[in-house]
Amino acid sequence: MNSKQNYQWDKLSLGVCYYPEHWDEKLWKDDMQRMLLAGIKTIRIAEFAWSKFEPTEGKFTFEFFDGFMKIVEEVGMKVIFGTPTATPPAWLTEKYPEVLNRTKSEVVMRHGNRRHYNYNSLKYQELCSRIVEHIGGHYGQHPSIVGWQIDNELNCGVSEFYSESDTLAFRRFLQDKYQTLDVLNKAWGTVFWNQTYTAWEEVYVPRYNDSDSTNPHEVLDYTRFISDSAIRFCKMQSDILRKFITPGVFITTNGMFDNIDNHRMEKECLDVYTYDSYPNFAYCLVEDPKNNFTLNDRKWSKYLTEVRSICPHFGIMEQQSGANGWNTRLEAPAPKPGQMTLWTMQSIAHGADYISFFRWRTCTMGTEIYWHGILDYDNCDNRKLEEVREIHEWVDKLEPVTGAEYIANVGIIKDYSNIFDTQLDCWHQRLNNSDMELFVASQLTHTPMDYVYLQDDSEVVDLTKYSVLFYPHALILSEKKMTLLKSYVEQGGCLILGCRTGQKDETGQCPMTKMPGLAADLAGVTVSEFTFVGSNEDSYVNFLGTKIEAPIFNDILEINVENTKVLGTYQSDFYDGRTALVEHPYEKGRVLYYGSTFTRENTKAFLAYTNMLSPYEEIIKLPQECELCVRKKAGKTYLFILNYAHKAAQINLVQPLMNIKTGLIENGTIEIRAYETRVYSNY
Ligand code: GAL
Repeated sequence: MNSKQNYQWDKLSLGVCYYPEHWDEKLWKDDMQRMLLAGIKTIRIAEFAWSKFEPTEGKFTFEFFDGFMKIVEEVGMKVIFGTPTATPPAWLTEKYPEVLNRTKSEVVMRHGNRRHYNYNSLKYQELCSRIVEHIGGHYGQHPSIVGWQIDNELNCGVSEFYSESDTLAFRRFLQDKYQTLDVLNKAWGTVFWNQTYTAWEEVYVPRYNDSDSTNPHEVLDYTRFISDSAIRFCKMQSDILRKFITPGVFITTNGMFDNIDNHRMEKECLDVYTYDSYPNFAYCLVEDPKNNFTLNDRKWSKYLTEVRSICPHFGIMEQQSGANGWNTRLEAPAPKPGQMTLWTMQSIAHGADYISFFRWRTCTMGTEIYWHGILDYDNCDNRKLEEVREIHEWVDKLEPVTGAEYIANVGIIKDYSNIFDTQLDCWHQRLNNSDMELFVASQLTHTPMDYVYLQDDSEVVDLTKYSVLFYPHALILSEKKMTLLKSYVEQGGCLILGCRTGQKDETGQCPMTKMPGLAADLAGVTVSEFTFVGSNEDSYVNFLGTKIEAPIFNDILEINVENTKVLGTYQSDFYDGRTALVEHPYEKGRVLYYGSTFTRENTKAFLAYTNMLSPYEEIIKLPQECELCVRKKAGKTYLFILNYAHKAAQINLVQPLMNIKTGLIENGTIEIRAYETRVYSNY
């Protein structure tokens, strides 16, 4: 069992999201029997059904769900039970409007949607604790329940909170962190524009003013505060559930959203993490032009890689099984035949041991009438149900892969201070392009990679698993992080840093030192000058004879430690010929500092230089449109090949491998169908 999770599924299995409250009870038994026939053995229920348990204040009833759970037992279904706190009842928000969240402009979010509450309302905490106590107390020992889901998608849709309770809690959070206003004033640089606080009552969550400029240090702390609030809310519920549930039953929550330190939430509140995977968003008719859709549905592999860093053997609580759409937005096509299988395999290839589809049948009412499930409104068997049956057969054959370790030798380091800082700082945001580009490079070159989060309790063994670690643009650095990175390099690791490393401290202020600040000694370099690359300019670097891109930003470097080597120089602009890329050998390892951002092209050069590029080429050769994921268990290596293209692809097995589906040994050039997944192993 990995220390990052307390619970692991012992066998790959399928589930589905089901809403008994949406259907005539006469359908329940038939629905579940049809699920079981298709190989679906678990359902998630109740996460929006507060009124079914507490129709009026303080009057609790379990009649509805008791009736449903009776049939669950009769048919032999397993259940993941949701706490219903994402949608408070109308009586609650009417009587206690203080539980409602507000926008930054102080508009109250009213009843009718979901997640319109605020985590910090003491009233909401009290009422949520009470409903969770009642539901936990009543169903905690139920033999059909295998797990619990807290709330639904914490911070989805709404990830900023501006109610009065939030301001009060923010003050407490800051008092804990800074103790005195003097320290806070210093950390927030309030002397700038005369923001100095003289009493705690003057401090608020960020408020509307007619400009998008704001105090960045305050917003950074505010984002940390939102994360802390969400985690406290989750912990409040998991602590209650733990009193009631049987050992072996897990607690989880679903999704992965902004402004939460999901790693901390997993550690402090959950046994296992589940994610909601909707790759069809890539094909929404109205695309957000800011999004980079280069990889289309394959981009979800990036999110799954993030999830794996939180919890290596995770579950998918909602896996796309139909066309997207609320009645107001998010129009996307139906999955084409084979795509549901592809997306399920994408999740499994990245580490999921449980896949639950969203949802059994498309809802016939409400805002999600276009968010299609396996079955359509007509409730007839269809090709998607048939595909689920086939997925089930496939999943059964993949049983040996359950709990297998995902293998990657390259990692990309992240941390929440830098993630939160990027959200506001537009210079930092531009550099963030590297994040996607590094991922795309690893995908297109079939070089498996992981994300590695630096956390309070991170240890050097978390890093030494990887031969090469990129830490692309760690603007915010701390002594603690540097100590860890130094030990990694000392022990033989290769650390690759990008431009603007070490510009800020943990408050987001800029120390008066040469960049890369705290990393200068380890990188063996300082930045003498820096600039954005103008929008009509191109910048290139000569990297040991190869011309590589150096877009967006250029740090001009100066060596400050004797044994640092120059690997690359700029080839343009007023800094033509100046140092762009260096390597500093340090103890058993080395640090590369690249004064620019990473692109899919220049990343290949870095992977090649460090001997990391395409490590499986001697076993299997793949076209770009196929993804390669590698997992290992009990001495066996499993190679997942996923074809995202809408047409067949040719792959080449350089060595004979066993096709896990057919049990046959294959070799040489092989055609795989559009959307097909092949899993091969050594034998
Ligand atoms: C998820 C959510 C579900 C449902 C689904 C489709 O984000 O957890 O409750 O809303 O999206 O919209």
